[in-house]
Amino acid sequence: MQENELIIPKHVAIIMDGNGRWAKKKMMPRNYGHTQGSKNVEKICEIAYKMGIQYLTVYAFSTENWVRPKEEIDALMKLLGTYLETSIKTSTKNNMRVRIIGDTSKLSEDIKKSIVALEEASKNNTGLNFQVAINYGGRDELLRAAKALAMDVKANITEIDDIDETFFEKYLDTKGVPDPDLLIRTSGEQRLSNFLLWQLAYTEFYFPEVLWPDFDKKELIKAVEYYSSRTRKFGGLE
Ligand code: FPP
Repeated sequence: MQENELIIPKHVAIIMDGNGRWAKKKMMPRNYGHTQGSKNVEKICEIAYKMGIQYLTVYAFSTENWVRPKEEIDALMKLLGTYLETSIKTSTKNNMRVRIIGDTSKLSEDIKKSIVALEEASKNNTGLNFQVAINYGGRDELLRAAKALAMDVKANITEIDDIDETFFEKYLDTKGVPDPDLLIRTSGEQRLSNFLLWQLAYTEFYFPEVLWPDFDKKELIKAVEYYSSRTRKFGGLE
């Protein structure tokens, strides 16, 4: 497919799977895979934006990931902490706006502080809109939204009759972010694993075999080619 035939999705969501297997293939510890995976996040942000993608959302840590060995959780949190700190500089350099989705109340005080600082520092940037899901679960997000909405109804701030899809979306972590057009899950797994359950209702899915640390520009172009070849019908006819 010629580059000028590509239909560029406005919003791409990625489940970055396969860090552990990538490390194992190289006979290295799993955490090495996460470190390389984390480096790849920055590269893909730049490549995606240059291709014309406006929104990118990645699944960095799920509400279910807490059952992993403590050592791996600690390493992932350390990586995320470092990422959040260094992103203050890189987001300025790349004009990128960063938002964190998920239940951040359960994260360490240091990480919470870094999140607030990064979101504040990057909020007026007009380049790539980058969402990082940390302690995120789709069901958890929907429950938190339902609870917040119920509180507003109870406090007479909201009428039950006002609640429609557009209204409900304002209670989601992704408020103001358009739904993903394309979801990519690397490593050949074909599951949603509780990612963006509401937002992925009409999204095209793409499941390449490549492991996340090896997902590069060539792979992103293949994903966009796949997307370009699909006709989206949103429940209607062609
Ligand atoms: C899945 O691979 C990956 C994760 C659970 C973590 C994703 C995190 C990163 C890429 C690094 C930090 C992110 C940012 C935004 C800096 P896996 O461990 O389940 O791999 P496996 O299925 O091969 O074992």
